[in-house]
Amino acid sequence: MRTCVEVDFKVYTGFVDQKGGITMQDTLVVYFSASGTTKRAAETLAKLLGADIAPLQPVEAYSQQYDQIVARGEQEKDQDSRPALEPLSVNLKQYRTIYVGFPTWWSQPPQVIDTFFETVHLADKLIVPFTTSMTSTINDSWATLQQLATTAQASLQPGLTANSTAAIREFIQ
Ligand SMILES: Cc1cc2nc3c(=O)[nH]c(=O)nc-3n(C[C@H](O)[C@H](O)[C@H](O)COP(=O)(O)O)c2cc1C
Repeated sequence: MRTCVEVDFKVYTGFVDQKGGITMQDTLVVYFSASGTTKRAAETLAKLLGADIAPLQPVEAYSQQYDQIVARGEQEKDQDSRPALEPLSVNLKQYRTIYVGFPTWWSQPPQVIDTFFETVHLADKLIVPFTTSMTSTINDSWATLQQLATTAQASLQPGLTANSTAAIREFIQ
């Protein structure tokens, strides 16, 4: 049974175990989504895992127009920029495993994923990456993710291409 508990004036989510004790939820799903597909995949994943979920929100929100997303994404890629992110809505301390989701852009994670790895304290966390895409797979982004995780002193775990509920179910089984 999912529940909440207050510790040091902070509310954490968790589960009531069979003995009635509180087990803290230690898995979080974070995601960036420009047009909603990765958000839906993240929600499915979080639901199936019983995990908490938090969006990665750029300070300057992306347009909902496809052409404008492409134009901005291309400029950010060419400039190797680090678009600023709003502070996360959760405290990462409680979590050991963090699923990190993003749309594949030009066979790579969008630049906001670089921002996430470089500005959030991820040392010793287990990072499970997932992506949505037209055809690309999580393998295309692997070298970049490995570099980002190494610099962040996080441990990159096998990830998934989350283009269907079936693929998500299969991964977490
Ligand atoms: C700027 C841009 C670049 C893209 N590059 C790729 C790509 O290299 N490979 C691919 O399979 N899909 C690519 N796509 C498709 C997206 O990865 C796919 O539609 C994704 O599910 C969108 O997720 P979102 O709705 O969460 O933003 C690209 C889309 C955009 C807007």
